[in-house]
Amino acid sequence: MDPSPPAPGPDTRIDLADGLTLRAYEGEADRTEYLRVVGESVEHLRPWMPWAAEHDPERLAAFLTDRAELWARGEAYSYAIVLDGAMVGSCGLHRHDDTPDGAIEIGYWLHPSVTGRGLATRAARALVEQAFRLPGVTTVEIVHDVAHHASAAVPARLGFNGDLRRPHEPTAPAETGEDRIWRLERG
Ligand SMILES: CC(C)(COP(=O)(O)OP(=O)(O)OC[C@H]1O[C@@H](n2cnc3c(N)ncnc32)[C@H](O)[C@@H]1OP(=O)(O)O)[C@@H](O)C(=O)NCCC(=O)NCCS
Repeated sequence: MDPSPPAPGPDTRIDLADGLTLRAYEGEADRTEYLRVVGESVEHLRPWMPWAAEHDPERLAAFLTDRAELWARGEAYSYAIVLDGAMVGSCGLHRHDDTPDGAIEIGYWLHPSVTGRGLATRAARALVEQAFRLPGVTTVEIVHDVAHHASAAVPARLGFNGDLRRPHEPTAPAETGEDRIWRLERG
């Protein structure tokens, strides 16, 4: 018997208004631009993103190489955030070991030159729409350290409920050891 076909994933390219596009990473072809955008953003990412503290070109390239397989397995759907043709950040849908059944998590970061314009909120809104089209997904989560107010404002704008907290061993310099978990239920 043929193996069952892979579960359908989200769109690989999402064109939004005003020059904003989310598109799946393209492996090695994205290397130069991805290294540039991370390199220029690293001081702004370091307080909150553990991988930024120890970023190096080989690890970043490995991130790109892994994307297609993780996408195919349904574990992570990662997108470059592109504004007027230039990569300006990253976002995605992913599942961790501790992601509850039926849930998927949204993550995002932006180059510091494009914050304050609503791009992360618009990207997250588009990912919510994609997430709820995936089979079995009933809940979308956004998780961040309780002290990260800029990140909290994104799910708050989108109507998520942010009542949950849980301890989390700090992994990045600004983290306090407590996460805030925002949830949005389908419908
Ligand atoms: C988290 C992060 C992506 C938030 O970025 P952001 O620019 O604050 O978020 P948005 O792109 O949604 O922009 C929101 C701002 O744009 C304004 N805005 C303008 N137009 C808007 C629109 N159409 N929709 C929503 N907000 C809009 C909002 O009022 C808000 O302004 P404020 O910062 O003065 O309150 C950013 O701080 C970041 O990259 N941090 C480092 C990486 C990181 O920590 N990632 C998250 C880990 S949990």
